[in-house]
Amino acid sequence: MADSVNENMIDARNNQLEVRSRQRFTDIHCHCLPGLDDGPATMAESIALCRLLAREGMATVVATPHQFGRFKDCNTAARVREAVRHLNETLKNNCVLLNILPGSEVHIDERICRLLEDDTIMTLADGGKYILLELPRQVSIDITPLLAELAQMNIQCIISHVERIAPFVARPRTLVRWIDHCGHLQITASSLVGDFGSKIQRAAWSILESGWAALVATDSHDTHFRRPRMGVAFQLISARLGKDIAHRVCIENPSRVVKGRDIAPVSICDLQEAER
Ligand SMILES: [Fe+2]
Repeated sequence: MADSVNENMIDARNNQLEVRSRQRFTDIHCHCLPGLDDGPATMAESIALCRLLAREGMATVVATPHQFGRFKDCNTAARVREAVRHLNETLKNNCVLLNILPGSEVHIDERICRLLEDDTIMTLADGGKYILLELPRQVSIDITPLLAELAQMNIQCIISHVERIAPFVARPRTLVRWIDHCGHLQITASSLVGDFGSKIQRAAWSILESGWAALVATDSHDTHFRRPRMGVAFQLISARLGKDIAHRVCIENPSRVVKGRDIAPVSICDLQEAER
């Protein structure tokens, strides 16, 4: 009996060491908090997703529950911070090696700047430097004035899953104007893999190959269709564009975001170097 208990403890310890040796990614976009949005409904589902994220190679994850849009008035900054504290405590008690930081995915809203000042809207990793902005999928909105207003507050904008926003897929050069105004583009790992179909997959690769997207994130919601796909996306990017680009968009820049540092550009020169 004592021998089998010892063996189980050794297995658990070995599993933890194996996971820790593979952890290298930071995820800046993930719906992992239980009961706050269209992510996990329960703490058990949330733990299962977090286990999968750790196995996928994540060390740090920014929890980004929706704010505004169809989740209007649901998630205040105080509620998100408390949910993150509770999840981190539960993960520790369940031996899941993952560090969760508070954040949100903010649906475009005319009150964004005022609500940032009121501490209603979350910045990524609560760092005050980046917000993750969600735009409507079918409507073209010019966010240049918002980017300028945010810049006056020393806040930069990361636009979530641009490959799934139809007007920009049709006219991607609109995005370049925003990049010039410190708007950064995030591509979803599962789009690159093809989980959302071939049209979105083509759009995701086209934006990435143009050197416009600085960040890849999972935008994971569950352990099935919307599961984290960072590991395979990293391999695909490495094979197609080179390891340096994969490292920059999947590891370096997400890490810079949570540390409050400037995002490094993914220039066409880097891509040309990778092709040589
Ligand atoms: Fe999302």
